[in-house]
Amino acid sequence: MKSVLVFLSVVATAFGYNILCIQSVPSKSHYHLMKGIVDPLLKAGHQITFISHYPESKPVKNMKYIDVSHIKMPTEADDRTDKSKQSIAVVMELARNISRDLIATPEVREVLLKEKFDAVVTEWFFSDTNSGYAAVQQVPWILLNSMVMHTHMESLVDTVRSVPTIPAFFIDSPIPMNFGSRLQNTLLYLLMSTGSLLEYSVLKSDYETYFSPFAKARGVTLPPYNEAIHDISVLFVNSHPSFSPAQSLPPNVVEIGGYHIPEEIPPLPKDLQDILDSSPQGVVLFSMGSIIKSKALAEHTRRDLIKVFGELPYTVLWKFDENIEGLPKNIHIRSWMPQTSILAHKNVKLFITHGGLLSTLESLRFGVPIIAIPVFGDQPSNAQKSVQGGHALMIDFSPEMGGPLKDALKEMLSNDRYYKRAKYLSQLFVDRPVNTTHLIQHYVRHAIETNGAHHLRSKALLYSWYELWMLDQVAFLLVILYTIYRVFKKIVGCFKRDKSIKTGKEKRH
Ligand SMILES: *[C@@H]1O[C@H](CO)[C@@H](O)[C@H](O)[C@H]1NC(C)=O
Ligand SMILES: *[C@@H]1O[C@H](CO)[C@@H](O)[C@H](O)[C@H]1NC(C)=O
Repeated sequence: MKSVLVFLSVVATAFGYNILCIQSVPSKSHYHLMKGIVDPLLKAGHQITFISHYPESKPVKNMKYIDVSHIKMPTEADDRTDKSKQSIAVVMELARNISRDLIATPEVREVLLKEKFDAVVTEWFFSDTNSGYAAVQQVPWILLNSMVMHTHMESLVDTVRSVPTIPAFFIDSPIPMNFGSRLQNTLLYLLMSTGSLLEYSVLKSDYETYFSPFAKARGVTLPPYNEAIHDISVLFVNSHPSFSPAQSLPPNVVEIGGYHIPEEIPPLPKDLQDILDSSPQGVVLFSMGSIIKSKALAEHTRRDLIKVFGELPYTVLWKFDENIEGLPKNIHIRSWMPQTSILAHKNVKLFITHGGLLSTLESLRFGVPIIAIPVFGDQPSNAQKSVQGGHALMIDFSPEMGGPLKDALKEMLSNDRYYKRAKYLSQLFVDRPVNTTHLIQHYVRHAIETNGAHHLRSKALLYSWYELWMLDQVAFLLVILYTIYRVFKKIVGCFKRDKSIKTGKEKRH
């Protein structure tokens, strides 16, 4: 019996690989984004070392947490409605700081130095220096892009093809773009490429400074930065044609849009379950996430919202970090709401949200139309896309939003086209030949077992930019054509001279 058990445990570990997963951005939503990759890998029996800002206190089988919660988002405590703190340069600097703090953490250094992993999973966040982890380990690198596909990602795994056809992810023009939008798209692309180019040498030197000591200590040669950043075995992208434009992708780019939503929806707490069950007339969920704290909401705005919600013939669940006294009976406030489980309930008719990608994906998954009140980052363009998708209305975030919200609620709850459209998109969203859990498990294992899935990568990476634009061939053909032209001209010239000599002679006679 004992030997059988020993044998079984050997078999079990033989299928499990040792995988390093790194959460780089210190925010709860990015924790969920990496956890959405970690969970299927655990389920497949792999050993996970999870570098995370939110380690769970309960031990999880096959999982080792490395706590990096000392790394903080400097803007986390600040008011996220302040637009001056959101420029791309600030975000890039923040990304560099986070990468530096991560690799400076003693526990992170220790595992990178001493352990042998079979693959490394990182999330892309405005910097490519984290390519160093897989480069030092010399194992397949799996990159997670928690946003929809964008041109920088394209440039890492392929050649950039989407500029003339697909608006950049924070431009909200409809497709097909008109001339003005296409011009704007191209200019923005050029601007961002120039930015990346300027940033390149800084990131390259970061990469070398952080990772060459590790490479040395492990006795391997650190690949050049430009090679490392393109050495992506699999790129998981948080997009799906039900909400992001279809585009051509190389086979190692795998769309797993909405993968963070658990397959089995966790049960609701009893009090919320009771409220939802006893509201067949309909429930409105109002949550602006964790980023907008109550202090960002003025007293009169609060009063307006309570009045608007109080007049609705529906139950309203309001996520708010402060209790409010004397609320109308149909409004229920909680500081924490299990959003996925609530949206999954059949009585939920509408979701009022900041329109962040994760919330948008959850509303699509469960077919709940939305009123978006975007605040920052990609929220405005997500919201605009949802409006274009026909399952949303959008209003501005302002102290006077009570009035516009009332109008939007009236329109949305009296016209069922938003609801029907949301249900249709939900069908598109869930109708996939292979579920995301299986995709994640398959491609990670496949990358490990094929030593980096080179056969799935775009061949465009093997050529330089002028070869891809066929400029060398054009130049060659031009030279040939010019030569032919010159030879031809010479021959014609000879004939002409011949003729004119002849005619000249004739004239003289
Ligand atoms: C990055 O780190 C530097 C040095 O510690 C600090 O001065 C700067 O404010 C940080 N930048 C951001 C955006 O957090
Ligand atoms: C996902 O796909 C796998 C493999 O096809 C299957 O075993 C699993 O049951 C699926 N999960 C769900 C929730 O459909």
